[in-house]
Amino acid sequence: MVGEPDFDTPPAIRAAAERAIEAGATRYTVSAGTLELREAIAAKLLRDSALVYTTSEIIVTAGAKSAIFSALGATLEPGDEVLIPAPYWVSYPDMVLANDGTPVVLPCAEAQGFKLLPAQLEAAITARTRWLIINSPSNPTGAIYTGAEYRALAEVLERHPDVMVMTDDIYEHIRFDGARTEHLLAVAPSLRERTLAINGVSKTYAMTGWRIGWAAGPRDLIVALETLLSQSVGNCSAPGQAAAAFALNGDQSFVAEWVSIYRQRRDRTAQRLNAIPGLRCRMPDGAFYLYVNCAGLIGRRTPDGATLANDADVVMYLLDAAGVAVVAGSAYGLSPFFRLSIATSIENLMGGCDRIAGAVARLSGSSVI
Ligand SMILES: Cc1ncc(COP(=O)(O)O)c(C=O)c1O
Repeated sequence: MVGEPDFDTPPAIRAAAERAIEAGATRYTVSAGTLELREAIAAKLLRDSALVYTTSEIIVTAGAKSAIFSALGATLEPGDEVLIPAPYWVSYPDMVLANDGTPVVLPCAEAQGFKLLPAQLEAAITARTRWLIINSPSNPTGAIYTGAEYRALAEVLERHPDVMVMTDDIYEHIRFDGARTEHLLAVAPSLRERTLAINGVSKTYAMTGWRIGWAAGPRDLIVALETLLSQSVGNCSAPGQAAAAFALNGDQSFVAEWVSIYRQRRDRTAQRLNAIPGLRCRMPDGAFYLYVNCAGLIGRRTPDGATLANDADVVMYLLDAAGVAVVAGSAYGLSPFFRLSIATSIENLMGGCDRIAGAVARLSGSSVI
């Protein structure tokens, strides 16, 4: 069920935090984040995405989550619309609502690779559209936009200069083809002045508990975020910032090792689930989730005589009958699916698949979809 790596933060990163504490990283830092960390982020953006940002165009936040929430808070007026392709990360619509905006959900079907099409984007833009949120690789589907797909979306955005773009790049390094994740801005530099690139150390370095993320964007937006953050969180944890800088600047080789472990889990779990009648699982290109189509179970009956009417029912049944916790597609805006996390051991995954197979075999009747 979990949305965090099952690995521990590597010892060298933990040791860097300890050294930083001993060296005095126990006090307030500037609100925007230490210069050391912002320099590390600027170097990372250049290294990984060929994007050039100065340290004054970067702000450190309490995780990517706080960057997204603060950016919405700093910019949305009541009724402003935020375009959210679905399946989406569960927090986006609620974060928009909490900041008085209106989430506009754009369903992206499995047949289109769970990705937003240019015509869909064009049709959704109104005079009230303030932001488009793009998350690639995606939670929950693992879908990744190619450079060509980004180019096509950018052509639409170029016709609508008032629409801003938030890229949630948090799963950037968790992709299974060994390629580098293309950034929208590398393909469409014309969007730079209205794009906020958001990322963090949580997923790549297994540092979810450290709460360090960032946003890179146009200076005026970064200043607005700084104002908001200086009056709310003040600054992010000083030892956490030191550890994040070390992580970004240090040895990256363990990331590829972890990705190859996620990949083995993905392959074996998808193969196992696809062998279960009624379930169908597309291979995710990145992130650490499988978004499983369960249309073949809808309408079937449990041994207790209850009918599985939707993916929420399927999820409850799998919890009760298989002891497996997955999340219903309805939470991500596209049904009938469930999300299964592969951030756990192969043994757990295979055991869970066996129990899912057993529970599905105990259903009667036929599906209605
Ligand atoms: C798509 C997406 N964005 C952002 C986050 C939050 O990341 P952070 O830990 O940096 O706040 C998550 C965590 O689950 C996520 O899945």
